Amino acid sequence: EPRKRIKRAIEWSLKFRVDASVNRARAGHLDLPHGGVSSPVYMPVGTKASIKGITYNEMKEMGCEILLSNTYHLGNFPGTEVLDHFDGLHSFEGWSGNILTDSGGFQMVSLLKLANITEAGVEFQSPVDGSMMLLTPEESIRIQNSIGGDIMMALDDVVNPMSTPERLEEACHRTNRWIDRCIEGHNPIKPQNLFGIVQGGLDLRLRDISLAGLIPKDLPGYAIGGLCGGEKKDDFWKIVAHCTDKLPWDKPRYVMGVGYPVDLVVCACLGADMFDCVFPTRTARFGQVFTTKGFLKLRREEMKNDLTPIEPGCQCSTCRKYSKSFLCEAFHKEEATCYLLSVHNIYFLLNLMRRLRQSIVTNTLDAFVKDFMVNWFGGLE
Ligand code: GUN
Ligand code: ZN
Repeated sequence: EPRKRIKRAIEWSLKFRVDASVNRARAGHLDLPHGGVSSPVYMPVGTKASIKGITYNEMKEMGCEILLSNTYHLGNFPGTEVLDHFDGLHSFEGWSGNILTDSGGFQMVSLLKLANITEAGVEFQSPVDGSMMLLTPEESIRIQNSIGGDIMMALDDVVNPMSTPERLEEACHRTNRWIDRCIEGHNPIKPQNLFGIVQGGLDLRLRDISLAGLIPKDLPGYAIGGLCGGEKKDDFWKIVAHCTDKLPWDKPRYVMGVGYPVDLVVCACLGADMFDCVFPTRTARFGQVFTTKGFLKLRREEMKNDLTPIEPGCQCSTCRKYSKSFLCEAFHKEEATCYLLSVHNIYFLLNLMRRLRQSIVTNTLDAFVKDFMVNWFGGLE
């Protein structure tokens, strides 16, 4: 008879420390296998692990310390065999910084719309050949182990916060059952860290159930999920505040799918440490950029003679080289210009979090937030 496998408590490699705090806001530091990450931090999203047109060198130069990739795309291409052959995504892609991978279920539900969630996992139709596929918690972790990212996300049952109470309750309990299957399936070649995801929609009671199930697992970090479905800002912020209040102080908190500058500032003040969103690159494709005075839509007629950069003083490579006039002309003529706008938008969020962190360290967060809000909502005249 085969000997029973002795299951030891997993020792996660992530070390997190809080360097300074102002009320709930924290200036933190994550020690990860591919270097340190200062928090609060915005993590740019790279579908298929490469951000359209932006090189990893440029990412490094902008001060990016962690990138987000996605299991769903990577499981299809390059696929786990190639990833295993290359000993993970870092060597395959040549990015030397940290990588966080999402578990794939959310992407399937939000992108494919054909997904059906059962206790077994997330069932979906393959975009490659139309066959039915099943992403189980074990399979998600197996793929994420092959990718070898520094932070992996648990497979969660993601539902729109506007779903029925019954469905929300089921998703919350199921996500907590799946966390055990994720931990059980974890079989890494190199050090990796698994984050659990708090679900429960806009219902504080369900959020409490989710929190009570997750926190005893003593994971290296926790995410707050299920929050980008068009709910009211008030509800969204209340959920974040409720969860950060109960999550352990000495672990990083990651609010998933948030990339709107005001939300980053508010959530960081509420004690969140990590954020990701495709919004900065997506909105760049429509010629929209972030400035300290709010959004700016690059309109050719208005900016024909404007030789100033998008944001005076911005140190991104776009603002150092190009005027609004040039960018509007180029954007009008050629799609590829949106890459220059993406660079600015990503830099803007990276820098916003760096400056916010610095204000926590120097105990000037109040003034920083006031200044940010007055500028943002004061608007462009
Ligand atoms: N991205 C944005 N929100 C979510 C979520 O709730 N779960 C997962 N896995 N990814 C997300
Ligand atoms: Zn810029």
